[in-house]
Amino acid sequence: MSDEAGLLSEDALEKYAAELRDKGTVVIAPETLFTQHELARIDQLQSDIPEEEVRKGDANDSHNVFVKRVRVDPPGHYPSNASGTASAQIIQLLERTERVAALRNIFGASSKYVIRRCQMHRMVSGSFVGIHLDAESDPDFEYSVIIQLARDFEGGEFVVYPSEGEPQVFCPKMETVLITTCSFWHEVRPVHAGERRSLVYFCSKHSGANRRIFEYSAVAREIG
Ligand SMILES: [Fe+2]
Repeated sequence: MSDEAGLLSEDALEKYAAELRDKGTVVIAPETLFTQHELARIDQLQSDIPEEEVRKGDANDSHNVFVKRVRVDPPGHYPSNASGTASAQIIQLLERTERVAALRNIFGASSKYVIRRCQMHRMVSGSFVGIHLDAESDPDFEYSVIIQLARDFEGGEFVVYPSEGEPQVFCPKMETVLITTCSFWHEVRPVHAGERRSLVYFCSKHSGANRRIFEYSAVAREIG
C-alpha cells in the first residue's frame, strides 16, 4: 500500500476475510494496510500524548501496562478524541479512505465501521494484560485492530481463547496488524525483556453513545 492508494488485491482481501471469518483472528503482513512511513508517523505523533499506568488490584493485578489515550469511548457517551492535535492526526491517518475500504472488505461488512476507541499500549519487562473480553468495554465493539510498533522485546504473546478449540498464540512482529473479533477472551502474556509498543483500535458499526451498562468490569473498561 502506498501512502495514497491501497494495493491489496481482491484475492488477498478475500483470503484475510476468510481467515477472520473462520478463526476469529487474522494477522495482516507488514506493508499491507500501513506503509513504514505511516507507522513511523504514528509513532512520532503518539510521543506527544500523555501516558498513564493502568494496574488493577494488588496481589491479583489484572493488568500492568502504560496507556496513551487517542480516542475514548466512555459509557453513555459518544466517542471523542482524547489528546488534541496528535489524536486527531492519528485518527485521520487510520481513517484514510483506502484503508477503511480494505478493512471493511476484511471484516466482510456491508455497512460502514467507525473507530470507537483508540490507544497506545507500552509494555516493559513484567508488563502484561490479563485475560479479558473487549465487548465488556463496549457491547458494540466488533473487531480490534492491533498495530505492532516495536521489535525489540521478548514475551508479550497475544493469546486468543476461541469459544471452541485450542487457544491461539500469536507472537507479534513489528509492522504486522492483528485483527481479532471482540467476542473472544484474550490476553497479552508478560513481556520478559525490551519494550513492546502497539496501537490498538476498536471498530463498530454503531456510531451512537456507548451502550455499556455501568456494572460491567472496570478492568475491561480500562484496556478493552
Ligand atoms: Fe483486548
